[in-house]
Amino acid sequence: MEDILSVMKKRHSVRRYKNLPLTEEHARLINEEVEKVNAESGFSIRLMVDEPEAFKAGKPHYGSFAGCRNYLVIEGPKKNDELAGYWGEHLVLFAQNLGVNSCWVALTYEKSKVKAGEGREIYVVIALGYGESEGVPHKSKPADKLVKGLEGAPDWYRKGAEGAILAPTAINQQQFRIEPCGENTVKIKALPGPCRKIDLGIVKYHFEACAGKENFTWFEED
Ligand SMILES: Cc1cc2nc3c(=O)[nH]c(=O)nc-3n(C[C@H](O)[C@H](O)[C@H](O)COP(=O)(O)O)c2cc1C
Repeated sequence: MEDILSVMKKRHSVRRYKNLPLTEEHARLINEEVEKVNAESGFSIRLMVDEPEAFKAGKPHYGSFAGCRNYLVIEGPKKNDELAGYWGEHLVLFAQNLGVNSCWVALTYEKSKVKAGEGREIYVVIALGYGESEGVPHKSKPADKLVKGLEGAPDWYRKGAEGAILAPTAINQQQFRIEPCGENTVKIKALPGPCRKIDLGIVKYHFEACAGKENFTWFEED
């Protein structure tokens, strides 16, 4: 995989797609990665290829989609929002590295077309495909508002922060705060907001992937 921070910098939400199925090669690689994630996480994520139904009923303004025929259904055991975010973002970045664009979608898809299995929950879907464009970087709150203690911080912490700020969050709310907490411990807090726990999992994935899991442990505050 290309350097993970570069992949994160290239990823933006894409809502207008070329009306195409994923190539066989891309579908195969993503399916293989989905299988690995499911085996490790206990989730039952599935890839839908060339299936336009879930994106037919676009809402008029925020979140209207065009040409989307492929998506991931993020399904798993109930009350596991944070892991849904964590593993979903792993797959988003895996796809981005292949040149496949994406968008997390919690609201603006046709929910009746995507059914959960017994005892399972569908957290979100993730649109996948070849964008009409690569999207644009999201506006961000100032780095020092989101992440405390950057000045004089070790390299891994600064890299983690850089990754966290690039994380997608629902309605771009960035309702998380990160701060150092002792030498190799990092505190992360999810503030109130839509999909706060899914966002938390996504942001943690970004921070970990850039900082290196071996360099720190999480201290979590609710
Ligand atoms: C959990 C979650 C749910 C989202 N739900 C929707 C949605 O229902 N419709 C939509 O158009 N975008 C949705 N988004 C995309 C966000 O609006 C987008 O990630 C955010 O504005 C940041 O932009 P970026 O992804 O380009 O960095 C969602 C994002 C996340 C993380």
